[in-house]
Amino acid sequence: MRGSPVWDYCNSAPSQKKLLLIDVDCGTDDAQAIMMAIAAPNVKILGITCVGGNTPLDNVCKNVLRVLQVCDRSDIPVYRGASKSILGESMHASDFHGKDGLGDVPDPDAPGLEHIQKEHAVDAMKRLVSKYPGQISLVATGPLTNLAIAVKMDPKFPEKLYSLYIMGGNMESRGNTTACGEFNFLADPEGAYIVLNEFLCKTYIATWEHSCRSKLSWEWYDQWVNTGTKKADFIKKIYAHSLQYSRSEKEVKAIVDGPGFISCDSYAMAAAIDGSTVTKVIECAVTVELCGKFTRGMMVLDLIDELKKKNKAFVMNGCDMKKFTKLMEACVK
Ligand code: BDR
Repeated sequence: MRGSPVWDYCNSAPSQKKLLLIDVDCGTDDAQAIMMAIAAPNVKILGITCVGGNTPLDNVCKNVLRVLQVCDRSDIPVYRGASKSILGESMHASDFHGKDGLGDVPDPDAPGLEHIQKEHAVDAMKRLVSKYPGQISLVATGPLTNLAIAVKMDPKFPEKLYSLYIMGGNMESRGNTTACGEFNFLADPEGAYIVLNEFLCKTYIATWEHSCRSKLSWEWYDQWVNTGTKKADFIKKIYAHSLQYSRSEKEVKAIVDGPGFISCDSYAMAAAIDGSTVTKVIECAVTVELCGKFTRGMMVLDLIDELKKKNKAFVMNGCDMKKFTKLMEACVK
């Protein structure tokens, strides 16, 4: 365990712009995380790869195009990846994100799928990390299927990355989809298992509990979405459905430590943009439960080094809320 600031090793990034590759299953918080990256002046987004998850893959692709349109960044290439988990299953989170993944708000001007690149997401990921070896931070905010396929196709893929940031899993067995299952890991437990066991690069994980503990107040949220900019209006619109669900009995029970606004994917993104948003980590080997009747998809922290794994992950366990809030505020400007 570590209790000291972690940015020195968390993000001693190159002096030029940080190169990001973002892998999403674009629901509301993915959308918001993409907007955060776009707003960050120290970041260059090389591409956004899509994976089925919160909503079916076509919606994911369309949602990313919509986000880029709102941000006037339709120049960022978007790639279509895996539609189903490694075992061929689909799990969506329409209760929270709406059937279309962005709150089911009509958008007559939504760009069409013809704007998606022809190249497959996994091919694009492999090509880009080979073009910029050791320079790309990969931020994954959906099920880890594309990443798992990438490492199976190219076992050297992880070592060509600068670092990996994941939103997923849990550190105290708290679930948000099943009793012990966080959505992204539960949607593809085998994918998560492959990534946590085969990506031997620096890996930072923002779990469900970390996200809950780093929530913002509803008062802050109200001010944030009412700043009157095009981006704030967009966020307000797409989040309306999710906020209703946030008050449902299931969600209220799932949220750790009381109410507030949680944009889960933004904690992984914030860490990639500015490592000093992470104030504390648990450094240990991690894996995923695949067989448990009640615990399938649960992340396992090997705090006693039982697994004898060489590679340790940094499980985020503290957030600099001042810095995080600034990054959130920037994304609606
Ligand atoms: C994660 O699950 C998804 O529904 C969210 O987009 C986030 O990535 C939170 O458990």
